[in-house]
Amino acid sequence: MLILNINGERKSVDVPDDMPLLWVLRDVIGLTGTKFGCGIAQCGACTVHLDGLAVRSCVLPVSAVGDKAITTIEGVGASEVGRKVQQAWLAIEVVQCGYCQSGQIMSATALLAGTPAPSDAQIDAAMSGNICRCGTYVRIREAIKQAATGRKLVPQTIPNEAAAASSGTDAPGQAFLSVRQEDAA
Ligand code: FES
Ligand code: FES
Repeated sequence: MLILNINGERKSVDVPDDMPLLWVLRDVIGLTGTKFGCGIAQCGACTVHLDGLAVRSCVLPVSAVGDKAITTIEGVGASEVGRKVQQAWLAIEVVQCGYCQSGQIMSATALLAGTPAPSDAQIDAAMSGNICRCGTYVRIREAIKQAATGRKLVPQTIPNEAAAASSGTDAPGQAFLSVRQEDAA
């Protein structure tokens, strides 16, 4: 029997020591906001926080967690930084299919908790392990900047062809062509 500290609550789980934390969260406790993607620490979909640091729960044996505080997407909004990140995600309309986004938000929140005003290079480095098949990377970066600065940024929807050309990718759909800073008032 293990006692885990998850989103501020103590949970008892009777699981094998080598069960990955992701399995415990999703299948035993029922916190299904954290997603399974690759299972080999390559995509970031399963990202949660351990004492505030982003970790890949798909490869972390639950017995290695100890008494560290586990935070999942269900609990990240309880912190001020997590709340700002979630609000910016909504304001920028980052999400496309959504599958990767729990992990993206967890990595972004861990970044801003340690680096409140990250440079583009720091954002790219912190987020490089989180893969998005929908290609929402430009909006993710802008949402992180909005969460960090509080500036309001306005997403603009443009045709697919122009989006692909401007973003330098062949990702279809909506793109974040440009942002217009609004007056705070
Ligand atoms: S599911 Fe854990 S990194 Fe992909
Ligand atoms: S929003 Fe679809 S994989 Fe990222």
